Amino acid sequence: MRRPVIAGNWKMYKKIGEAVEFIAALRPKVAEASHCEVVVAPPFTALQAVAKAAAGSNIQVAAQDVAWEKEGAFTGDVSAPMLCEAGCTHVIIGHSERRQIHGETDERVNRKLKAALEAGLTPIVCVGETLAEREANRTHEILERQFSGGFAALTASDFSRIIIAYEPVWAIGTGRTATPEIAAQSHRYLRSLIAEKIGKSVAEQIRILYGGSVKPDNIQGLMAQEEIDGALVGGASLKRDSFSAIVNYP
Ligand code: PGA
Repeated sequence: MRRPVIAGNWKMYKKIGEAVEFIAALRPKVAEASHCEVVVAPPFTALQAVAKAAAGSNIQVAAQDVAWEKEGAFTGDVSAPMLCEAGCTHVIIGHSERRQIHGETDERVNRKLKAALEAGLTPIVCVGETLAEREANRTHEILERQFSGGFAALTASDFSRIIIAYEPVWAIGTGRTATPEIAAQSHRYLRSLIAEKIGKSVAEQIRILYGGSVKPDNIQGLMAQEEIDGALVGGASLKRDSFSAIVNYP
């Protein structure tokens, strides 16, 4: 049984005060949610305050990026041990906005992923094709490339600690959700890649979340797919009512 994960990616929204207020309001709304893991990913500046505000609840905290080195002359970067110290348990790696805006490559994703694992963080690694790639029938090719590069040289035991998020770039922030069937096809393909390259039992156990315009009114259809193990939610995770409705989908 793969335990679902509902994760909210706040992107560059919410100052510390707003973030803490949000958690205080969210706590009672998701307190009964034993069917899934609940994760929120605030901006770096709010991580520690959110971790404190969520202490003792079922809300876990993720960062939105991580450096691959532990420390050093890397202006602007934040390392995995620093994220742990701030109270993070998870970290999002390779989000399409980082790939597109910040030139994140599969090789960098791989280094960050290893750094996160070494520090004991649970990585949520994003993959997904753009609209042009989908229309050119290149979805599998892109997922294969992102998988081979981003997840290179990892062991089966590493995989048991990783969460994957399939986020078709054309569905992010556009209001255009992949249909549950389209999402499930890509999830199946990713699982088949893992089965082939790493092993069948690893493939059966790894959780693959869907991301891209997930909302309270489409979560049930997505979660009805056997292949979909949860959601990485952007816009709809910023409001307490919509995020808690998504968490409480069953
Ligand atoms: P969205 O974002 O839900 O606003 O489409 C998802 C994401 O970028 O993770």
